[in-house]
Amino acid sequence: MSVERRVLVINGVERSFLCDSEDSLAEAIRNLGLTGTKIGCGAGQCGACNVILDGKLIRSCVRKMSKVKDHSSVITIEGLGTANNLHPLQLSWMVNGGVQCGFCSPGFIVSAKALLDENPKPTRSDVRDWFQKNRNACRCTGYKQLVDAVMDAAAVMRGEKTMEDLMRKAGSSDEKVFNTRHIRPAALGKVLGETDFGDDIAVKAEGAWHLAPVTSDVAHANILNIDYSEAEKAPGVRQIITAKDVKGMNRITWPVSSIFSKADGFERPILCDTKVFRYGDVIALVAADTRKQAREAAKLVKVEYELLLAYDTVLEAMAEDAQEIHPGIPNTFLYKPRYKGKDTREIFPEAAYVVEGSSSTTMQPHMPIEPESGQAFVDKDGTLTVMYKTHGVYTSKNLIAAGVGLEPDKIRIILNPAGGTFGYALSPGYAALLGVAALATNHLVTMTMSYEEHQRYTGKRPSSYTNGRLACDKDGKIIGQELHMAFDKGCYTELADMAGKAINFAGWPYNVPNILNLSSYTFTNRAFTTAYRAPLATDVFMNYEMLVDMMAEKIGMDPWDFRYKNVLREGEILPHGRKVANYNYTKLLDLAKPKYEELKKHAKENSTPEKQLGVGISIGGFTCGSVGDRAEIMLELNPDGTVTNFCTWQDVGQGGDVGALAFTHEALRPLGLTPEQIRLVLSDTGQCPNAGYSAGSRSNIMCGSATLDAADKLLKAMKKEDGTYRTYDEMVKDGIPTKYLGVYERDPNPFASGPDDVFDENIGYAVIAQEASVGVFVTEVEVDVATGKVRVLDMHVFSDIGTVVNYTSADGQAYGGMQHSIGYALSEDFRDMKKHVNLIGAGFTFIESVPDGDHYTVTYLEEPRMDDPYGAGGGAESFQSAGHISILNAVYNASGVRMTELPATPDKVKKALDDKAKGIKRKQEKYDIGDFYGILDYLKANPVYRTE
Ligand code: FES
Ligand code: FES
Repeated sequence: MSVERRVLVINGVERSFLCDSEDSLAEAIRNLGLTGTKIGCGAGQCGACNVILDGKLIRSCVRKMSKVKDHSSVITIEGLGTANNLHPLQLSWMVNGGVQCGFCSPGFIVSAKALLDENPKPTRSDVRDWFQKNRNACRCTGYKQLVDAVMDAAAVMRGEKTMEDLMRKAGSSDEKVFNTRHIRPAALGKVLGETDFGDDIAVKAEGAWHLAPVTSDVAHANILNIDYSEAEKAPGVRQIITAKDVKGMNRITWPVSSIFSKADGFERPILCDTKVFRYGDVIALVAADTRKQAREAAKLVKVEYELLLAYDTVLEAMAEDAQEIHPGIPNTFLYKPRYKGKDTREIFPEAAYVVEGSSSTTMQPHMPIEPESGQAFVDKDGTLTVMYKTHGVYTSKNLIAAGVGLEPDKIRIILNPAGGTFGYALSPGYAALLGVAALATNHLVTMTMSYEEHQRYTGKRPSSYTNGRLACDKDGKIIGQELHMAFDKGCYTELADMAGKAINFAGWPYNVPNILNLSSYTFTNRAFTTAYRAPLATDVFMNYEMLVDMMAEKIGMDPWDFRYKNVLREGEILPHGRKVANYNYTKLLDLAKPKYEELKKHAKENSTPEKQLGVGISIGGFTCGSVGDRAEIMLELNPDGTVTNFCTWQDVGQGGDVGALAFTHEALRPLGLTPEQIRLVLSDTGQCPNAGYSAGSRSNIMCGSATLDAADKLLKAMKKEDGTYRTYDEMVKDGIPTKYLGVYERDPNPFASGPDDVFDENIGYAVIAQEASVGVFVTEVEVDVATGKVRVLDMHVFSDIGTVVNYTSADGQAYGGMQHSIGYALSEDFRDMKKHVNLIGAGFTFIESVPDGDHYTVTYLEEPRMDDPYGAGGGAESFQSAGHISILNAVYNASGVRMTELPATPDKVKKALDDKAKGIKRKQEKYDIGDFYGILDYLKANPVYRTE
C-alpha cells in the first residue's frame, strides 16, 4: 500500500484526503463518506459507480486514483440535488417508477445528467443509445421507466414542464394512495444517494472487522487439509474462522417436507468441513482490520483437496454408475407424480392428434446489481444481530439457529436496504456466514462479496430437461397430457418443496381431463437452485406452451384460437385438482387479441428473407402464496396522532414499503391521515411481528389482510359513541391500548372441488392457493438469418393481478419480469465458472435487448379478488412465467426453426437456420431422464403415508 495525499474538487468543494494510489476513484470517493456512488460489478460493466470527471462520464470503479489528476472536478450523485431541492432527474426517477431497489439509480441519474449536459433535447433512442454505450445496467425496471424519466426531466430542464407537472403523474393525494402511482417512501433516499445499502454501512462501520471468504475453486472434493498459517501472519489479520469455530450444527436446517424425499434438508454446511460440493462454497472466513487486508490474507489460505467426480448435468448425475454426491442420499432424491383421469396410455393411441416434444432450460442467474453484503454483531445480552439482504427476516433466523448454535429468540435479523434479489435471497446462507463469524470473534463483522463470489455463492433458477406429449380430439380439445421433467437441484436441497410447482402448473390453465406427470429433483455439483420469479413454472411453460403451438399447427388452427378453445371456463378444475378464484383466461385472451393481430399483420408485411419477423403468444401465471399461511402486523397510534406500521413486509426492491403504506392508509381512511402521518418500521425481528417472507406473490394478500385486521381493531378501539375518534391522549386517559396486532390466517384447505379433492401427494393432488395471477404474452421478433441473432421488437403482457395496489410497483414487476424473460430466452446462463461469473459473461440483458415505448406494454385487467384485501392479488411471478416461450414461439413463426434449448443464443439459432436451409430435419432429442411410466407405476403401487 502506498499512501498519498490527494486533492479533488468534489461537487464543487475542494477536498483533500489520504488514499492508496492503487485505490479506484470509486473507493476513494466512498471512503470520504460519499457512498451514493455504488460499487456493483466492480468491473466496469454496470455503471452503478458512474461519476462525472472533468465533464466526462466515467465508471469510477475501474479508474485508478493514480490516473486521476489532482484538482480534477468530480460530480457525484450527492452533487445533484437535496431533499428540499431535487434535481429534475431525481424527481423524475421517483415519479416514473425508476426506483425499484434503487441500487442502480445514482449511477443512472449521474449518467443521464452527463447526457443532458451534452444533448438537452434527446430522443428516446438517444437516451437508450447513451445508456447502452455507457453500460448502465438495471435489473429491476425493464428500462422503459428510466427512459421516461430522462424525457420528463429534460422537458423540465427546457422549461416545457414543471416539477409540479411531474408530481401530478403520481396521481396520489392525501386522501388516496391505494391504487395510484404514489411514490414509494424509500425512493427519496435512493435518488439522493443517501440510502445506505450493505456496503455503504460497511464503509461507515467504525472498528468493524472485515471478512473475506475463502471459497472453493473446484466443483467437488474432499477437504484434506486447510493451512492458514501464512494467512494468520498477514498484516491486519485478527482471526480465521473455519468449521471448527462454529458452535452449532454448522448446517442450514431447511427441512424437505415431501413424503417422497430421500433427503432431510440438513446437508448444506455453513462453512465446509469435510467436503466442497460446488465452485464458490465457503471454506473459511478471514477477519482483518480492512477489507484489503482480509482479501490479501484469504489468498494465502491453502486448501488441500482430494478431487471427486463432479456432475455437471442431471443426465450425468442420474446415470446408474454415478456416485452419490451426498453419501447415503440418491442423487435423484425426490419425485413428484401426478395422476388425473384415465391412464394416458389408453388416451394417446385413440387421439385424433398427438404432438410430442422435448425441451431444456438453463440455470438462470438472478444478477442483481448489488453483490452480497452484510454485518453481524453480538449484543450485550448475547443476541446475535445480523443485517443483510433477505426476503424473510424470520425465515432466516429459524433456518440458521441450529446451525450457528443459538435458539431462534437469541437471533435478530434486520433487512438492510436491498439492491435487488428476485428470489435468491430467500436462502439464509449469507446470514449464517455472518452469524458464525460474529459469534466466533465476538466482534462487529462486515463482509461484501465481489461480484464473482456473489455469482458463485448464491442460488440460481433450476435448469431442467422435459419430455412432453399432448393429445387432442378431432375438434381440437385437449384430452390428455404427459410431462416428464427432471430438475437440476444443484448441490443442496434448499427450497426443495418447490418441486410441487412443476406438477401444479403442468397443463395450466387448460382444461385437461387426463394427465400423467412426473417431476424429479437431482443433485449435481452446480449452484444449488432456489426461488426466482415463477420458479419451475417457467420450465413447465417452456415445454407446454411449445406443445400447444405445435398442436395448433398440426390441427391447422391459429395458436390464439387453439388456446381460446382450451383454456378453463368458470368452474372447471385446474390440472392440480382445484378451482381457482378468478376464471379470467378468455377475458385476457380477448384483451390481447387486437395487439396479436396487429403484430401478425406487421410481421407479414415487413418480413424479408434476411430479416424474418414473426409473432408468438403464450399464457403463463402463478399462484399467490400458499394455503395455511399466516401473517401478523402491528399498528400503533402515536402521541402526535400518527400511526406506525410494524411489519416484516421485506422491501427487496419490489415495493414492500409502498405496499405497507398503501394498505395502512386505505384501511385508516376514517382517521383522515396523510401518507406522511403513517410511519413504517419494516423488517426487523427485534421490533416487528412476523408477517412471513416476501416472495411467492403472497405479500399483498397476507400483509394486506393482516393490516386490515389491525386497522379494524385500532379503529374500533378509537371510536367514540358519537362516531368520532379518540385522540392518543384520550386513549391513554381512558386506559385503552394504543397498539393492535393484526392477524391473517389462510384456510388450509380452500376451494374443495368434489370427491376427487383430497390432498394426497401420492397422486399429486395439491392443496394450493386458489388465487393466481395470469399473463398472456404477445411478442414479435426479428431473426437475422445471417447471424442467428434474435431481436425482440415488441413484447406485451395482458395481465390480471387483481386490483393493483401501486402501479409503479406493478409496472416494475411487469417490465422487469419481461426483461428477465428476454434474457432467459436468448442470452442468460450459468454453467461456465469462468465466463458466467460476471454480468456480460452471463449474458445480462442490457437496454438494447429490451423494447421501449409503445412496443413494450403492460395492460391490467384488474378483476378484484373477492376474498382478498381491497381486491388485490399478487403479481410478481406471473410476469416472468411464460414470456420466454412467447419469444421462442415467435422465432418459430418467423423462421420455421423451433428452438428447444435455453438460451437460444445466436450460434444455436444460426445452426438451426443453416440446417433448415440444407434441408436437414432436426429431431427433437428425447431426454434420457428415467423410465417415465415405470417410475409412475412404482410410485402408485407403493404409496407413502406419514405416520406422525
Ligand atoms: S461499472 Fe463500476 S461498479 Fe459496475
Ligand atoms: S432499480 Fe435498477 S437495479 Fe434495481
